[in-house]
Amino acid sequence: AEGKKASFYEINREAAAFFYRNFTKKANPAYDYMIKRGLEPATLKKFGIGYADEEWDSLLNYFLDKGVKPELLLELGLVSESKGKFYDKFRDRVMFPIINTRGKVIGFGGRTLHDGTPKYLNSPESPVFSKKNNLYGLNLTRQDINKENYAILVEGYMDVISLYQHGIRNVSASLGTALTENQAAMLKRYTDHIVLSYDADSAGQAAAARGLDILHKTGCKVKVLHVTDGKDPDEFIKKNGKEKFLKLVNEAMPFAEYKIHLLKQRLDIGTTEGSVTFLQEAAHILKDVSPVEADIYIKKIAKETKISEGAIRLEIYGNNNSEPIRTP
Ligand code: CTP
Ligand code: MN
Ligand code: MN
Ligand code: MN
Ligand code: MN
Repeated sequence: AEGKKASFYEINREAAAFFYRNFTKKANPAYDYMIKRGLEPATLKKFGIGYADEEWDSLLNYFLDKGVKPELLLELGLVSESKGKFYDKFRDRVMFPIINTRGKVIGFGGRTLHDGTPKYLNSPESPVFSKKNNLYGLNLTRQDINKENYAILVEGYMDVISLYQHGIRNVSASLGTALTENQAAMLKRYTDHIVLSYDADSAGQAAAARGLDILHKTGCKVKVLHVTDGKDPDEFIKKNGKEKFLKLVNEAMPFAEYKIHLLKQRLDIGTTEGSVTFLQEAAHILKDVSPVEADIYIKKIAKETKISEGAIRLEIYGNNNSEPIRTP
């Protein structure tokens, strides 16, 4: 089985090299597309970006000539099969190889060059690719994540590459799926400080809210960043540059603040019922944060709800005398 796995990695590596040659050695629409999106040749090379051409059998024939069995290509999701005939799965797409932290090509994402759907086509789960156990870009960025002692977690391939090109290299993407516990644990090997920077749309914000809880549960200190211009980190940094993005990182909302912000969106604190529920749920959130941090929010909430700090502390700690922070 290990031998078979090794040959899968080898096939993926050769497929990545094939797509890369298509992208770099002759004129092709994918290269033009990526340049138009502001990426530099050095960045494209660093990420091993490639092109799957329009033919139905380019990659298939390349491997058949090498004596590789199409059944293996099928298992990797490089080809599809219909009525006993094999054909290339990725056609006329920009190809993003997904490489694990051991440097093995485990799969691909392919972006359409047009408006067609799906926008991204990804390798299916295979003997060497498990989406929920990998993060995009970590092979290139884990040293930077370790050095900076925080990771910026984004949604997409383009966000990683774009931030990287702008000099923000402590970045990784959750491969489009909702963040999993395994992915959180993986990041935590390099840092326990995470800045979630998902897309500004409602899907991105919902994914951020879920990711936040998973990272918190894993024991990470997590903050939420909001892009204020453009749909996602790629668009933001392209328009506003590195320093402005770092300013957003600085202003990112800490876990508790963000959770309370979500509560306020959900509940009407103008009503008695709303403010009681708000207080109970906020107390639940503040139970888990450091007393110093909790103290800041207690003061804020008291101001906003006109409920006394003592009552809020009672709700959180079950005892209004156990103020964790006292001025001597
Ligand atoms: N994604 C996917 N399949 C789709 C759409 C999205 O796997 N049909 C994943 C991809 O990893 C993608 C990420 O979700 O990078 C975020 O999706 P989206 O925001 O729609 O794409 P962008 O990364 O912003 O890509 P682009 O800027 O090229 O539109
Ligand atoms: Mn720390
Ligand atoms: Mn999106
Ligand atoms: Mn985008
Ligand atoms: Mn996006």
